[in-house]
Amino acid sequence: MSNASDKVVEVAITSIRPWTDHLFSFKTERPKGFKFSAGQFARLGLPAQAGSDQLVWRAYSIASGPFDEELEYYSIVVPGGAFTSQLKDLRVGDRLLMERQNHGFLTTDQFPLGGDLWMLASGTGLAPFLSMLQDPSCWESFDRLILVHSVRAKAELAYQDWIESELPQHPIFGAWAQEKLVYQPVVTREPSAYPSKRIPELIASGELARLVGRPLSLTASKCMLCGNPEMVSDTKKSLKDQGFVTSRRSRPGQIATENYW
Ligand SMILES: Cc1cc2nc3c(=O)[nH]c(=O)nc-3n(C[C@H](O)[C@H](O)[C@H](O)COP(=O)(O)OP(=O)(O)OC[C@H]3O[C@@H](n4cnc5c(N)ncnc54)[C@H](O)[C@@H]3O)c2cc1C
Ligand SMILES: NC(=O)c1ccc[n+]([C@@H]2O[C@H](COP(=O)([O-])OP(=O)(O)OC[C@H]3O[C@@H](n4cnc5c(N)ncnc54)[C@H](OP(=O)(O)O)[C@@H]3O)[C@@H](O)[C@H]2O)c1
Repeated sequence: MSNASDKVVEVAITSIRPWTDHLFSFKTERPKGFKFSAGQFARLGLPAQAGSDQLVWRAYSIASGPFDEELEYYSIVVPGGAFTSQLKDLRVGDRLLMERQNHGFLTTDQFPLGGDLWMLASGTGLAPFLSMLQDPSCWESFDRLILVHSVRAKAELAYQDWIESELPQHPIFGAWAQEKLVYQPVVTREPSAYPSKRIPELIASGELARLVGRPLSLTASKCMLCGNPEMVSDTKKSLKDQGFVTSRRSRPGQIATENYW
């Protein structure tokens, strides 16, 4: 594969971590000079088929911290998906293409800073929030970082161990995590110790605020929503029913969103 240009660079995969048969994380080299803010995404490219000249490009949230030496991604495998059918077969040392340009507006500069940051994710929509948990300015800007991760099955609670056990011991983020992090898994399709209702319902009933022990209110909360577009839309509706509005440059609000498809 040799498609490098001013706009595109080739990067090698440096590690791969499977979570389930349809979820895995991988790291790549970080191109020299590539900068991004926590919450942004990269555009990754692969040949449409092995050996093909035709490329398929997809957006991928960056899960690593903005100052890490490598870039980390957390991926679904869509059966028959044009991109992930190729991606799932790559091994350490294989290369993929990446745009040199960073993208995206799921960043904390969309809001007036302060209060609690609620990070509401479904499935792989967790990724941008993992980056925020590794960004000093996110910890400094909010009283609490409240991460709610909704998945179908417990095995899909990727990064749970890192969030609960490793992050609080991290030399830079550990003290912040111990003081400010609230992590609330939601498991919707099998019995578990976690709530099984969907996020919008948990918001509407007030159960989510009770579970995490913090008020979800216009004055105290900023909300970021990421993942399944239906989750994003239904959650936004739940928040709007309580008076929340999408944050825009001309009219600061409390909601910022990213749809994955
Ligand atoms: C801004 C942005 C950031 C994204 N970040 C990520 C990320 O960090 N990790 C990631 O896995 N995907 C992410 N995606 C989705 C990603 O771009 C691709 O859609 C995904 O890799 C599947 O590609 P595909 O070609 O195999 O299937 P596609 O043809 O792209 O998708 C086919 C169908 O698969 C389902 N699907 C697609 N992506 C997902 C997903 N992530 N989870 C569950 N179902 C899905 C949808 O029903 C979609 O219609 C992001 C998308 C956007 C727009
Ligand atoms: N091969 C497998 O075993 C397997 C397993 C899981 C997924 N998949 C495939 O992977 C794809 C994506 O699965 P996924 O689990 O990552 O994503 P998903 O379907 O978006 O589910 C992730 C979480 O989001 C919740 N959710 C979905 N719609 C919502 C809405 N409108 N409001 C609030 N919450 C909502 C789900 O709850 P609900 O459970 O209530 O929908 C679940 O808790 C699907 O196409 C699926 O077929 C395959």
